[in-house]
Amino acid sequence: MGGQDLHILVLAGGNSTRIKTGGPKALLDLCGRPLLEWVFEATSGLAAASRQVVLGGVHQQAIEKHLRKRGLVAEEGQDPASKPWQVVEQPEALGTGDAVRCAFPTLPEEGRLLILCGDTPLLQAETLAALCQAPGGALLTARFPDPTGYGRILRDAEGRLQAIVEQADCDAETAAIQEGNAGVYCLDLAKLRLAIAELDTDNAQGEFYLTDAALQVLKQSGGHSHCLESGHQQVEGVNTLAQLALVSVILRQQILAEHMASGVILADPSTTYIETGVEIGPGATIHPFCVLRHGVRIEAGCEVGPFAHLRVGAHLEAGSAIGNFVEAKNARLGPGAKAKHLTYLGDAVIGAKANIGCGTITANYDGKIKSQTQIGEGAFIGSGTVLVAPVKVGDGAITGAGAVVTRNHDVAEGQTVVGVPARPLPSPSVESA
Ligand code: UD1
Ligand code: CA
Repeated sequence: MGGQDLHILVLAGGNSTRIKTGGPKALLDLCGRPLLEWVFEATSGLAAASRQVVLGGVHQQAIEKHLRKRGLVAEEGQDPASKPWQVVEQPEALGTGDAVRCAFPTLPEEGRLLILCGDTPLLQAETLAALCQAPGGALLTARFPDPTGYGRILRDAEGRLQAIVEQADCDAETAAIQEGNAGVYCLDLAKLRLAIAELDTDNAQGEFYLTDAALQVLKQSGGHSHCLESGHQQVEGVNTLAQLALVSVILRQQILAEHMASGVILADPSTTYIETGVEIGPGATIHPFCVLRHGVRIEAGCEVGPFAHLRVGAHLEAGSAIGNFVEAKNARLGPGAKAKHLTYLGDAVIGAKANIGCGTITANYDGKIKSQTQIGEGAFIGSGTVLVAPVKVGDGAITGAGAVVTRNHDVAEGQTVVGVPARPLPSPSVESA
């Protein structure tokens, strides 16, 4: 079956009951990206003829809405094939086997089907690629320090796959087996169709188990000797919020390790939170207790923190600095600009070498719309200044401590303003007249 087309199916039609938040598990945030999108991402390097995701139940609309917004699935009325993923509806969550059955009408009769669970976000692309190479198909397994909740892998004396026993169906002896089913399979489609058709619900949970069908197919294809074993970390499944926390710790460490490997100085990785999609240049230093969210760019040699919060669109150009208790969102700091203490910079463009004094606030939101603040090169913003956007402070201009620069009352290049509302400082000659 090696030469046949590969199709990808992600199962996310479950009810998320064990999560207990009332919302869909698929959209829970994991280091700046929803759980389900991590699974999508893991498959992105595979050459697949089609990609489908099974959705259903109370959360279907919310998940679909999100995926549409992200451009991953088609809008209503659009050609479904025009987007990377297509939605398959599972009317009722009758088990993983039933979820696969729901996708059959839109899949060809023959080929290979890679099946993944939407709640296994740490899967590595290379592992999936290896699984898809296995002749006769394969199943991914791992030895879990605590295998509770996973289907247990029973092998015969030759190491061939014998059975997959769900937690709920385990006796004490089977429950003690540490090798678990990762829930990832590459199977012959024609054989899978037949095996799924024969499934029953004769088990402790009264569900159609995909595992029963997968075992059947692998035995028929000679693939039962091809269980691929991976490290347990990358196949940790998220069924509970405790498991979500566990995978986020693993992922966070991976993200931090990548930044350190590329020359970023992390003073204390154990208190540094960097989401996915953050760019940091070599030689930048991140001090302890910082949160850098996705969509942040920090260029070489910058300094951040301690206790800084950088959100989407924060862009620190080379050698600029953000200090303690500073939050920045959609704000660009020019080269060498500094905001060292207790400041909010939202929707701001700040010129090179500007100095933003302690306690400065860009008041970007009037309750209805967000507006921009522009601060020129070398400007000096005095401590406690409030800049009510939209407003511009020219190059080299100065605001006095506590000044409130009101909206559209731009400060000219080189001008000094003080007070509330801020006014130009009277020149000494006028005063003495
Ligand atoms: C499943 C496997 C188990 C494996 C584990 C790996 C089965 C029967 N069990 O158990 O052997 O060790 O994954 O993490 O397959 N889903 C649907 N429709 C349904 C039910 C589930 O789409 O009717 C989706 C869920 O949204 C989820 C995935 O399938 O993304 C797996 O379902 P889940 O209930 O989490 O299965 P596990 O109990 O974890
Ligand atoms: Ca699961």
